[in-house]
Amino acid sequence: MSTPDTLAPEVHAGAGSTTKLELIGIGKEFRTRRARTRALADIDLTIDDGEFVSVIGRSGCGKTTLLRMLAGLLSPSAGRILVEGRTLWHGSTVDSSVVSQLGVVFQDPNLFPWYSVAENIALPLRLRGQGKRQRRDRAHELAELVGLAGFERSYPRELSGGMRQRVAIARALAIRPKLLLMDEPFGALDALTRERMNLELQRIALAANATVVFVTHDITEAVFLGDRVVHLTPRPGRIREVRTVDFERPRGIDVQTEPEFGAIVRELRHGLQDGEE
Ligand SMILES: Nc1ncnc2c1ncn2[C@@H]1O[C@H](COP(=O)(O)OP(=O)(O)OP(=O)(O)O)[C@@H](O)[C@H]1O
Ligand SMILES: [Mg+2]
Repeated sequence: MSTPDTLAPEVHAGAGSTTKLELIGIGKEFRTRRARTRALADIDLTIDDGEFVSVIGRSGCGKTTLLRMLAGLLSPSAGRILVEGRTLWHGSTVDSSVVSQLGVVFQDPNLFPWYSVAENIALPLRLRGQGKRQRRDRAHELAELVGLAGFERSYPRELSGGMRQRVAIARALAIRPKLLLMDEPFGALDALTRERMNLELQRIALAANATVVFVTHDITEAVFLGDRVVHLTPRPGRIREVRTVDFERPRGIDVQTEPEFGAIVRELRHGLQDGEE
């Protein structure tokens, strides 16, 4: 399914491969006056077009740091990030033309309370200077995609947490991103809503043929959604294991009761426990 992570980057470049994202020797060190924190080291990972990659690891292992670097918000201290073969960071300067192609969803949906659902969804299009009619049509299309048709005129305060999160996902999809980066987007939701959101995200990702990097604490969620699950160990965060998950898509919630699913979850859980100090 995917290219082995160990292949040298040169092998992918220009080979007409379907590589979406390459992380080559990525490291991050935070320096403050009091301390130096090595947050990440030696991260090598190749992600294919349309692939869904879950990232798990204990609190503080560097998951958010990794996503922020991919999102163009934080420069790496070492290594290279390539998005479709284009270098994202030149030193501490980000290539904004690459960043503008990304969709990002964080734990907090970060909606504008004085904008309606449709206006929130279409905001990235407005920033790109698209006309009113175009924005309205796209907002409607996206509201349908995330199951919010009929709520376009509502305001964030009138929505549940899960609905707000879906607005954030729709907004991230508005520009038809090549790559969707998600950091614990469902962390604040109850178990049932989260399950529904998992199904919807899978559907949306398949429909949009999006490549997704999805950070979560929840191993079941990681396995359910992921084509692969990347396990990071802390201090500094390194890739301990990359586990391929082969269940056919679209996956139904029932896949979670299959013995193979349980075995993968157990294996990853043991790995996480081994990583403890
Ligand atoms: N801006 C910063 N300045 C200094 N240290 C930082 C900064 N951001 C993160 N760190 C440190 O980097 C390490 C990784 O943090 P990060 O937020 O990436 O972890 P995480 O895996 O997302 O954790 P969680 O699961 O709790 O969200 C931690 O030790 C943290 O203290
Ligand atoms: Mg985090």
